Amino acid sequence: MYEQVSHSLLNKILDELKPEIRRRDLRHFYTRLGANFYAIYSLFHHLYGQRDDFEQQMVNLVEVMARQYIKRNGDLKQSDIEREQSHNWFLSQQWVGMALYVDGFADDLTGARSHLGYLQDLGVNMVHMMPILRCPAGASDGGYAVSDFRNIDARVGTLEQLRELADSMRVRDMLLTLDVVVNHTSDEHEWAQRARAGEKKYEDYFYIFRDRNIPDMFEETMPEIFPETAPGNFTFDTTMKKWVMTVFNDYQWDLNYSNPAVFIEMVDIILFWANQGADIVRLDAVAFLWKKIGTTCQNEREAHLILQLMKDCSQVTAPGVLFIAEAIVAPVEIIKYFGEDAVIAKECEIAYNATFMALLWEAVATKNAKLLDQGIRSLPDKLDRATWLNYVRCHDDIGLGFDDTDIIKAGYNPYAHRRFLVDYFTGVYDASPARGQPFGVNFKTGDARISGSLASLVGLESALLAGDEAAIQRSIDIILLLHSMIMSFGGIPLLYYGDEIGNLNDCTFLQDENKAHDNRWMHRPRIDWTKAELRNQHGSVEQRIFMGLQKMIAVRKSTAAFADYNNRWLIETGNPHLFVFLRNNPFQLNDSVLVVGNFDAAPQSLTLSDLSNRGHFEYGRLYDLYSGESPQQFNDQLVVPPHRFYWLTDHRLS
Ligand code: GLC
Repeated sequence: MYEQVSHSLLNKILDELKPEIRRRDLRHFYTRLGANFYAIYSLFHHLYGQRDDFEQQMVNLVEVMARQYIKRNGDLKQSDIEREQSHNWFLSQQWVGMALYVDGFADDLTGARSHLGYLQDLGVNMVHMMPILRCPAGASDGGYAVSDFRNIDARVGTLEQLRELADSMRVRDMLLTLDVVVNHTSDEHEWAQRARAGEKKYEDYFYIFRDRNIPDMFEETMPEIFPETAPGNFTFDTTMKKWVMTVFNDYQWDLNYSNPAVFIEMVDIILFWANQGADIVRLDAVAFLWKKIGTTCQNEREAHLILQLMKDCSQVTAPGVLFIAEAIVAPVEIIKYFGEDAVIAKECEIAYNATFMALLWEAVATKNAKLLDQGIRSLPDKLDRATWLNYVRCHDDIGLGFDDTDIIKAGYNPYAHRRFLVDYFTGVYDASPARGQPFGVNFKTGDARISGSLASLVGLESALLAGDEAAIQRSIDIILLLHSMIMSFGGIPLLYYGDEIGNLNDCTFLQDENKAHDNRWMHRPRIDWTKAELRNQHGSVEQRIFMGLQKMIAVRKSTAAFADYNNRWLIETGNPHLFVFLRNNPFQLNDSVLVVGNFDAAPQSLTLSDLSNRGHFEYGRLYDLYSGESPQQFNDQLVVPPHRFYWLTDHRLS
């Protein structure tokens, strides 16, 4: 939009740009800056307009964008232009992701590069490399406490090796996702150290207080993230003799975004990683970016404005790069991280679908899809040009973040139901085969989350121990069922490394004093490549899971109805054990896939005439895209075996 005040400021800024910037060919940069400037100016003004140095800060911001544009290499600029042309590229069903720790997956970046073939064999073409930036050897929160935002941790490699990996991925049409931990730094980061040494400039990068007055006011309304291991939200720093805001661990200092210098540094860092070849940047803990006394300090409006501003700036320099919002918050809040626009994602194009993840686990424990169905019905439609990251589990704990109202509508008591779920997955509940552990237990609120590998949570560990073949098969079926849901729901499925070969809980973390207190490490495996080889051995557990997923991925990629265009309809079936939805091919009429998942341990049936009567589906010639077979029918009853899923079409694709 053209608007006089911002435009005259833009002219002034461009006139004042340093000669070395002005001399360059910045054609595309200027067009994009012109297009986004009003939004950038308005947001920046809203956040920082009251400051005397506002104009100077705006100049600094534009310079950062311009300098990073100049550094962006030709290939990446070309890819920006291509992605502008096919702007819906990331909504395609072609993308299948995996999140992994580089050292756990393959020791280091070179190792990861040598295993790209393994990922390709499975069908994965988007890899989220969890934090690989420099961090302290001990207190690192798995890399989420960064001590240098522009360098790779020496334990996994070098910048040069990352560029080689990124190049190799580009040649293979694989997307690289990197983390930028925007909310906090390690207390060993240079900014924190300089703040500690009393430099005012860097003190202003954090929330630092002389006494407990303000911290106590904050504490009145702020929840605790790690109540067992890092209670409270402030830490007393013995060198400064002051209190620092540390929402996560005591060594993770929260950055103060009410200071524009912090915002500009972070934009610079995001663009730096975009220029190293990241196709997607995962912005960590975005719900926490703005702190206000009297609130939970999560999901504040300003946190959204900061994200919009980050997006607008990134679009000027590196428009082909997407953002993932990591906001594991209430269902109605999560969706806002796409940005509240009619069509285009104004904040992050991709967001973790934590609601779906939690609901899937609930369905596993209850063996029915009542809450799953209810919870998904309550989830608002995503924006047209945005997509979900659908996952069964990730490197973090599983939080039971569904809505209390939905729990009630599904016929349960919220408190008792959450209690049951934690008991179920931690194996306390008698009939449960799960072998997880409680995480983040808060005795004040009764809240708890769950740790444990996918395989161990669905009973594979106990089944193997008991040598119970039927139970082993049941666990494998559940693993496949859960993946069939994330592959067909709409959005990018994100697998978690090790799950594709049924990795069990790994308790070696207990021997490491830096990890022993954090049981999320039980599901952050080190891949045993000898075990991974078993995927080639017919009948092995590894082979049954790996091959199942491989086939599922291949079918997903060739099924246009699985692209993400708000083309999903939940189907009411009258059978609470089944989760059923219809996906329509957005580009072709009469091409739909009926997704049916049976969460029960007993066979269930679906009355097909109900579907066709409502015009949903013809049921004469059903064909399951996954198995390549026609499923069993009894008159108009479709029989769905225990823990099975179907991807049904009413015509056979040749
Ligand atoms: C995110 C990460 C989590 C980390 C936290 C603090 O939630 O996923 O692993 O502990 O941020 O950085």
